[in-house]
Amino acid sequence: MSAIPAHVGIIMDGNGRWARQRGQLRTQGHLEGLKAAKRIVKAASEAGVSYLTLYTFSTENWKRAADEVAFIMALVKQYLRGELDFYRENRIRIRHAGDAGGLPADIAKELREACEDTCGFTGMQVILALNYGGRDEIIRGIRKLLAERAGGGPGEIREADFRRYLDNPDLPDPDLIIRTAGEMRTSNFLLWEGAYAEYWVSEKFWPDFTGDDFKAALAQFGKRERRYGGANS
Ligand code: FPP
Repeated sequence: MSAIPAHVGIIMDGNGRWARQRGQLRTQGHLEGLKAAKRIVKAASEAGVSYLTLYTFSTENWKRAADEVAFIMALVKQYLRGELDFYRENRIRIRHAGDAGGLPADIAKELREACEDTCGFTGMQVILALNYGGRDEIIRGIRKLLAERAGGGPGEIREADFRRYLDNPDLPDPDLIIRTAGEMRTSNFLLWEGAYAEYWVSEKFWPDFTGDDFKAALAQFGKRERRYGGANS
């Protein structure tokens, strides 16, 4: 298998705990989390990763305090605007996973424009999972499939058919999913696509996560034997 995973997903966790440890507001943790995201996009691009999915805001994150939600949305906007030159220089394409219809209109517009502006770039693809939930993606996929077949299509549904109804059907499944802050759970991230992903968990909080930590995850991945349910070789 290739030493470099083509598609890496990251559950960026621990911004709040990072801030609490320092007696700071949670928002300060998100601000530092944004810096970490920029760092890791660069590290991933340099390492030769083709697709990087960042779990930025889940369908469950709306339960947080309104001011925290507003702060994160403002950061997303700042990120999309502020990083565009970097994306252009590095031919990086921005994409979205999640329900754009449930995002504030200005964020959805900003995201749509960033995706359009960069859609011709053939370098790494950065997929922002925003208002994303794995279950939600599957349910939205089922709705699309039912709508398409309402006129009476073929009755059988195979795994390969269903992929077409996911948010980004052309993307390969993630090979590696990194999670920070030591939690051992999927938290509704890429449920369908991540069925055979290798997981790598760091004890570090996301704002402390460095390019070297990212490289360490890639190195670990290179040593894993992936069997996809098959037997040991
Ligand atoms: C996870 O930490 C952080 C989030 C869900 C917030 C979103 C992420 C960022 C602001 C960084 C990257 C941003 C962009 C635009 C790429 P948490 O708040 O769940 O931490 P906790 O579990 O310690 O409370």
